[in-house]
Amino acid sequence: MGLKGRDLISIRDLSREEIEEVLKASRRMIPIAEGTKPSSALEGKILTLAFFEPSTRTRLSFESAATRLGGHCVSISDAAQSSVRKGESLYDTVHMLSSYGDAIVLRHPNEGSARLAAQTSEKPVINAGDGAGQHPSQTLLDLATMHEAFGTLSGLRVALLGDLKYGRTVHSLAHALAMFGVELVVSSPPGLGLPEEVREHLDQLGARVTEVDQIHRAVRDVDVLYVTRIQKERFGDLAEYEKVAGSYRIDRAVLAGAKPRLIVMHPLPRTGEIAPEVDATPHAAYFRQAFLGVPVRMALLSLILTGKAG
Ligand code: CP
Repeated sequence: MGLKGRDLISIRDLSREEIEEVLKASRRMIPIAEGTKPSSALEGKILTLAFFEPSTRTRLSFESAATRLGGHCVSISDAAQSSVRKGESLYDTVHMLSSYGDAIVLRHPNEGSARLAAQTSEKPVINAGDGAGQHPSQTLLDLATMHEAFGTLSGLRVALLGDLKYGRTVHSLAHALAMFGVELVVSSPPGLGLPEEVREHLDQLGARVTEVDQIHRAVRDVDVLYVTRIQKERFGDLAEYEKVAGSYRIDRAVLAGAKPRLIVMHPLPRTGEIAPEVDATPHAAYFRQAFLGVPVRMALLSLILTGKAG
C-alpha cells in the first residue's frame, strides 16, 4: 500500500515489510545525513514540528532530516510560547497546523493525543511520543541500530531494562521485536513492569518473553541491552519515584559478564542508568543510535511525503 500520505501513530500501524522498507531506505540516507551527499528529495515541503513536551533528539533529528533533504521546518518547541498557553485546544491547534505544512510531527504528554490529532489533521501526523503510549520513529531507529550492528534482527536476544511501565520507547520496540521473532528478556524495578495490555499483545504475537529480577542475569547471554531511564515526569506521587530512583546502573563491572559483541542502547537522555565509563567500551551504541535517528527519519519523511525512498 505504501507509506505516502499515511499517519504513523503506533508502530503497530506498520507491517514487517513496511518497517524493512524504511530500514533499507535509511541505509541509503546515511551519506546525506552525514552531509557528504546532497539531496533535494523534500524540496518545497514544510514539516511542522509541534512539541508540547521537552525533546532534544527527536525534534532536532526530524529538523535535521527535513533540512538535509532540502525541506523546511516550522515549529512549536515550547508549549508555553504557543497559544496553548491561552487555552487553545489540541483539536484547534492541529487543525491550524495542518494548513501550515505538509506533515505534522507531534509530541504531547497525553496518551492518545497523536491519534486524536490524526483524526483532526488533513496532513499526515507522526507521533513523536504521546505520554506513556508510543514512540514509533524511535523504534525504527532502534531497529536500524541493531541491524547495523548485527546485519540482521532475526535470532537476536534483546534485554529491555528499566522503566517498562511508563517508557513509551519500549512499548513500541517490544512489538516490533516480537514481529521479527526476537527473544525478549525484561527486567524492571518493582512496579515498573510492562503494562498488562502490552504483555497480552506480546502473548498474542507469540513472543518469547523471559522476566528476570537481577540486572546481571538480564545482561548475560543477550546481544542487545536496551536501557531506559525511570520516567520521573509520569509519576503521580514523587515518593513512589524516590523508592525506585537509582535502583539499577550499567557500568564496566556489570558488563564484565556480557557477550563480547553485546551492544548497549538507550533512547536517551540518560540520568545515571549508564555510567560514563561505558562510553569508551565497544559495547556503547547509544550515540550511534541517536545519530541514526537522522537517516531513519529522512527515510520516513521521504516515504510519507513523496512516496519515494529518497
Ligand atoms: N529518544 C528521545 O525521544 O529523546 P528526546 O526526548 O530528546 O527527543
